[in-house]
Amino acid sequence: MAKMWAGRTDGNTEKIADDFNSSIRFDSRMYRQDITGSMTHAAMLAAQGIITSEDADQLIDGLSGILNDIDNGALAIDMACEDIHMFVEQVLTERLGDVGKKLHTARSRNDQVALDIRLYLRDEIDTIAALIKELLMAIVEKAEQYKATIMPGYTHLQRAQPITFGHHLMAYAMMLLRDLDRLKDCRKRMNQSPIGCCALAGTTYDTDRRFEAERLGFDGICLNSLDGVSDRDFSVELLGALSTLMVHLSRFSEEIILWSSWEFKFVELSDAYTTGSSIMPQKKNPDMAELVRGKSGRVFGDLMGLLTTLKGLPLAYNKDMQEDKEGVFDACDTVKMCLQVFTGMISTMSANTANMKSAAQKGFINATDLADYLVKKGLPFRSAYKISGQLVALCIEKHTVLEELPLDTYRSFSELFSEDLYQAIDLTVCVEKRISEGGTSLASVEAQIAYVKGMLTK
Ligand code: ARG
Repeated sequence: MAKMWAGRTDGNTEKIADDFNSSIRFDSRMYRQDITGSMTHAAMLAAQGIITSEDADQLIDGLSGILNDIDNGALAIDMACEDIHMFVEQVLTERLGDVGKKLHTARSRNDQVALDIRLYLRDEIDTIAALIKELLMAIVEKAEQYKATIMPGYTHLQRAQPITFGHHLMAYAMMLLRDLDRLKDCRKRMNQSPIGCCALAGTTYDTDRRFEAERLGFDGICLNSLDGVSDRDFSVELLGALSTLMVHLSRFSEEIILWSSWEFKFVELSDAYTTGSSIMPQKKNPDMAELVRGKSGRVFGDLMGLLTTLKGLPLAYNKDMQEDKEGVFDACDTVKMCLQVFTGMISTMSANTANMKSAAQKGFINATDLADYLVKKGLPFRSAYKISGQLVALCIEKHTVLEELPLDTYRSFSELFSEDLYQAIDLTVCVEKRISEGGTSLASVEAQIAYVKGMLTK
């Protein structure tokens, strides 16, 4: 097919070269951004007297017609075109004749694609941020429901100290809040307009880049034209933020998978978010959580792919940069799906509070509290720690728990023990006494919930 850029060459490329070169298969999803950018460009050209306002009106009408036609299915995107930019310009020229050919004055596909991708990803960030907020709401609701539910807290996956399920859930809420913040931060740096950088060096036309930037909702413009067309650090940053988000979702998934196993039986997932096995009738598999954990790998891969694509590129534009899109689109699609499924899974999940409690009762997780008891009675912590450890060893030997040991036994280890020790090692008391900010006490978890809720209304 003859090319719009035919001139220096005859433009008669081999079909296989065309297919290889083409990006329309994946960049067609930016048609709205491409057309919006072109409408703004036409308006700027007229405002600066570079084209007439009659021409600009025709271009803008023509572009808005193309947008409508694509939206309502009247115009199919031609996958034989090189990219979405060429497609839109080609249709415009078919519809308007020579006027259509004026649109590409004082711009290049290099600044055009840099613009489109920023506009597209800016919207994706907003969508993803809204989905994170929905997940946060679901987590906060669960945390509220289970703010007094005692469970073992773990280190090294060994029972460590008693906490509440609400406290545990709120840990993920804090991580997701930072993920939101990272996205906001990334959006800020992404939101600088590259349009007007042209091919690489700017232009001899008297353009007004700030007019375009303002109309397109940017906070400012890329101040160096080479930089504007050749960096994709905003996509790297977004992929970094999405990768971190996926780390959080993946860890949360891993816990849900563990908790819903017969070995733990801490949570029950809704049938709507689990699957059965085709051979083992007893199975209820946490596939959604496993997939979220698994899909984290592809998002990290998207990040690595882009970093690797960019690392050896000389300035300014190189065709390698066409490879910037699929990965970041895939990451956005993946994250959006993961967040939606995760929110549904969390909001329909219930805790098996009795099992959590009994696991908490079996793990000597009040041993620190026992040591603290002796410290409060005047013993140095290291000595108290040792006695507490010896008492745990004794319990293990006698197949009992700290709560069941008689006072006499305690007193044979230290005269400082008296009847009130049983109160000090009661699990509810252990939780309630952890009043330090951020700790597991009810008041502290309530404060965390209030904080996150407050952040969500901002
Ligand atoms: N499809 C290209 C891309 O995605 C658009 C820019 C092409 N520019 C060029 N000079 N070949 O990067």
